[in-house]
Amino acid sequence: MHADHSGRREAREEGEKARALLAKSRAASAAAGGEPILEVRDLVKHYPLTQGILIKKQIGAVKAVDGVSFDLAAGETLGIVGESGCGKSTVAKMLVHLEQPTAGAIRYKGEDITKLSGRALKAVRRNIQMVFQDPYTSLNPRMTVGDIIGEPYEIHPEVAPKGDRRRKVQDLLDVVGLNPEYINRYPHQFSGGQRQRIGIARGLALNPEIIVADEPVSALDVSVQAQVVNLLDRLQAEFRLSYVFIAHDLSIVRHISDRVGVMYLGRIVEIGSDEQIYDHPTHPYTQALLSAVPVPDPTAREHRERIILHGDVPSPANPPSGCRFRTRCWKAQERCELEVPLLAVPAVFRLADTPAGHDSACHFAEEKQVVPPEGLLETPGETAADDGAPGGADGRGETSDGDDEASDGDDEASDGEGGASDGEGGAAPSGSTRAG
Ligand SMILES: Nc1ncnc2c1ncn2[C@@H]1O[C@H](COP(=O)(O)OP(=O)(O)OP(=O)(O)O)[C@@H](O)[C@H]1O
Ligand code: SF4
Ligand SMILES: [Mg+2]
Repeated sequence: MHADHSGRREAREEGEKARALLAKSRAASAAAGGEPILEVRDLVKHYPLTQGILIKKQIGAVKAVDGVSFDLAAGETLGIVGESGCGKSTVAKMLVHLEQPTAGAIRYKGEDITKLSGRALKAVRRNIQMVFQDPYTSLNPRMTVGDIIGEPYEIHPEVAPKGDRRRKVQDLLDVVGLNPEYINRYPHQFSGGQRQRIGIARGLALNPEIIVADEPVSALDVSVQAQVVNLLDRLQAEFRLSYVFIAHDLSIVRHISDRVGVMYLGRIVEIGSDEQIYDHPTHPYTQALLSAVPVPDPTAREHRERIILHGDVPSPANPPSGCRFRTRCWKAQERCELEVPLLAVPAVFRLADTPAGHDSACHFAEEKQVVPPEGLLETPGETAADDGAPGGADGRGETSDGDDEASDGDDEASDGEGGASDGEGGAAPSGSTRAG
């Protein structure tokens, strides 16, 4: 019991240390001028809608992403939130070149990577890696953890020559708080949180500068989410990573992000610092999203305003004219139907020195504090602030995730081959990860 308490305390201190280190690294980044490492401009992805079996005729397009722009500074975390289907994953896939944009630019250190090919593209791709949402389906059940984490070295042997790979992979396991001796185990022998650590280790294998994390904790048990978020915090400070962090959960995004972009139907409708977005939102959609966030404090809950949105999100194949949010917006007027609102600081706030003066795509932007500042829930499971840091009190993440390991792995190979334990059936992917 006593040992357990002191373990928790040490783990909590470890989490606090990671946060202090992170704050220092962010301050250094801000002092250095915060030059964008990534500049995304007018990014568009339209998926053609076709008709006909033999002769396919295009009859329209799903406008999954339709003019998204943002900057990402070195060492910064940009959170992206929005309802299901608003285009978050499509943006993520374009950033890591899993999808080719229909139009727009993605400039990495000033160079538009959408125009690159061959060796130049390969060199850039190394620096922008992705962590996927679902650790249960994104890891190939037929590959060992060592092969999964080390697979990127097959494409980039210059990062780790063959003789050095095992040691490199073991170092990565250690860095993400897993026991390096687990290198020969299979994904099904790990808990959900541990699998996500494996996904993160793989993302780190090529020493990237940017990690695009698409809902990295959404599939995890609430008690495990904080641990993975703390791990990401610590890794960011240690390796000076920049994150694009995509999530549904506004509380988690607030915890990890420096800035937040809110997406609706293929566009960013509001973007600003976490304080601007959470405490001084000016776009009706952001205000509606915030009004639905769970507020644990009963007094704050009483003062929270609930905004109920009516109607469904319109189809991205046929978005409304003017402001795309107008069919659900309680403030909509004729101008909203006729004129597309630009993402910019609204005129009413331009001359005032106010946190409401940030980019918001609304003709009638008004500040509305939906949740009292102290009311928002911090990261779920925060009290168990154990990120499984090496040397922590958790036995290197073996049981720290709170959900038990699927098996104790004495007989790794025997059931690793079938892959049936993950419900994957026979259709195993050829690579070690799959796009979510
Ligand atoms: N390959 C594709 N072909 C056609 N439509 C697509 C394709 N991929 C995505 N879409 C559509 O694009 C829109 C945006 O999808 P996307 O996966 O980016 O949303 P999301 O915000 O990540 O949603 P979620 O929160 O559910 O993950 C959706 O309407 C989706 O159906
Ligand atoms: S532009 Fe009009 S419809 Fe769109 S969010 Fe603002 S008030 Fe609502
Ligand atoms: Mg998605």
